[in-house]
Amino acid sequence: MPDNDRPRLIEVAFPLKQASLDSVHEKNVRHGHMSTLHIWPARRPLAACRAALIATLLPDPGTPQGRKELLERIGGKVVTEVQKRKVGGKTVEVVKERTEGGVLRWGNENSPDMDWFREEIKKAYGGRAPRVLDPFAGGGAIPLEAMRLGCEATAIDINPVAWFLLKCTLEYPQKLAGQVRPLPNFAVESPEFGLVAKCSETRLAGLTVCCLGGEATP
Ligand SMILES: C[S@@+](CC[C@H](N)C(=O)[O-])C[C@H]1O[C@@H](n2cnc3c(N)ncnc32)[C@H](O)[C@@H]1O
Repeated sequence: MPDNDRPRLIEVAFPLKQASLDSVHEKNVRHGHMSTLHIWPARRPLAACRAALIATLLPDPGTPQGRKELLERIGGKVVTEVQKRKVGGKTVEVVKERTEGGVLRWGNENSPDMDWFREEIKKAYGGRAPRVLDPFAGGGAIPLEAMRLGCEATAIDINPVAWFLLKCTLEYPQKLAGQVRPLPNFAVESPEFGLVAKCSETRLAGLTVCCLGGEATP
C-alpha cells in the first residue's frame, strides 16, 4: 500500500501523556514564546499541535513495537522527579512527572530529531511535504508547527486581530528577521508612542524594530 494511503498514527495511537505534560510545562514559559507577542485566549499549546501534526502526517508503523518506538521518538519517556517545596513554612517533597527526550518539550523544537521527522513526513508523501490548511487558525499554533515540520502552511481567520497575529507569527519573521528598520518620525514624536520611542529597541520574534528617530542602525 502506498504510504499516503496507509492509516495515520493518530488513528491508532497518540503520545497523550507526554503531550499533556509538555503542554502544561509550556504554559509557564515566559520568554521567547509566541504567547508573549499577544494574548490570544484560544491559542493551543505548541507541544500539543506538534504532536497532533506529526501523528496525523506520519503513517502508523503497523506493529506494536514500531508504534512504541515512534511514540517515544515523538514524546520521549515519562520520568518522575522529587522536588522540594516550601508550603506554609515547611519543606515538603513533591513527586512531579516530566518528559525526557522527544520533540515536544519547550526547547526541544530544534532538536536534531526534528530533521528526522521532516524527512519521514516528506517520504510519507512521495518526497514532498504536504500543504497544511488551518481555516480557523487563531493565534497560529497549528500552521507554525506545520511550517516547522517542513510543510507549506496556509492560515485563515475571520478575525482581523487574529489575521494580524498570523502575519506577525508566520510571515513577517521569515521575511524580515534580522533586518533593522527605523520607526517613522511621526511615531517617535507622538506622545502616544512616547514609551516605545524611549526604548532603544524592541525585539519581537526575531524581528528588531529600532526606535531611533528615523535613523536606521547598520
Ligand atoms: C479555537 S480558535 C483557534 C485557535 C487556534 N487553533 C490557536 O491555536 O490559536 C477558532 C478561531 O476560528 C475563527 N473563526 C470562527 N469562525 C470563522 C470563520 N467562519 N472563518 C474563519 N475563521 C473563523 C475565530 O476567529 C477563532 O480565531
